[in-house]
Amino acid sequence: MTKPYIYITRKIPEELIVAYQDRYTINMWPHEQKPVEQETLALEAQKADALLTMLSDKIDMDVLNDAENLKIIANLAVGYDNINLEDTKRKEITVTNTPDVLTETTADLTFALLLSTARRIVEASDFIKNGKWQNWSPFLLAGSDAYNKTIGIVGMGRIGEAVARRAKGFGMNIIYHNRTRKGQAEEELNASYVSFDTLLAESDFVVCLAPLTPETRGMFNEQAFRKMKQSAIFINASRGQNVDEDALYDALVNGEIKGAGLDVFAKEPIGKEHPLLKLDQVVCLPHIGSSSTDTRSTMIDLCLNNIDLVLSGRKPHTPVL
Ligand code: DGY
Repeated sequence: MTKPYIYITRKIPEELIVAYQDRYTINMWPHEQKPVEQETLALEAQKADALLTMLSDKIDMDVLNDAENLKIIANLAVGYDNINLEDTKRKEITVTNTPDVLTETTADLTFALLLSTARRIVEASDFIKNGKWQNWSPFLLAGSDAYNKTIGIVGMGRIGEAVARRAKGFGMNIIYHNRTRKGQAEEELNASYVSFDTLLAESDFVVCLAPLTPETRGMFNEQAFRKMKQSAIFINASRGQNVDEDALYDALVNGEIKGAGLDVFAKEPIGKEHPLLKLDQVVCLPHIGSSSTDTRSTMIDLCLNNIDLVLSGRKPHTPVL
């Protein structure tokens, strides 16, 4: 009997798949950096029983049209905005994501980004490396405090709550905006639910952790940046398309807000010529929120586990919806 076929759309370490190789034929795209070509993906989808996909793979009918055996798409991310769920539903394909296992790692990165932007860590490091340090001086690279300041979290999901726990440890005042109120977070973290406008007006740090949906797309626009404090720092660690990047650029250049820390961009990878990269008050990262070796390995294992469950007729651990 032929073994079910799993196609992985990026090169991952062999040792992460060995445990599954006796029961499955596993093939992967041979590049670590370069995404799978759509044509290859569509051809593989025709053959595969399961796909392990990346957030950079666009999955819709173009890929799924002739995928007659495909039973599961395991997406290596908590977000799944790269997958057209109407199309997967039509084809009766299960979709899974990787919640929970990346929560703390992504919250660490979000908080690191907040502190790096506030305290100008990257600029300060470059300052020394470029031989600019002449002497100690009272306001050399003076930044903003996090302690005692107000953090406004937009999108109080699992990662939002984990960021709030870190903020509490830093003595910050926590406000949040979310589709639904989070009673437990309010109690445990002393977080207050506020309207989006109030959050924009009162926060020293506005942190976007909302998933990309039709409601959140472009929510950080010209009007939103205008409502923020001139001293505000904007952090985005969810999806770049939640932000109008031209509006963000203008807000930074015109002094409507003070700085931005960005792990995600509207179009990834962001080109080296992107105007936001030219600004000292912007810290940019290449979408590495959940990228610790342990967490990425755990995420891959969760994907393979979900695939194994579905292909053996059981329920996956983390289906979306
Ligand atoms: C996710 O899992 O959606 C993150 O963006 C990956 O870092």
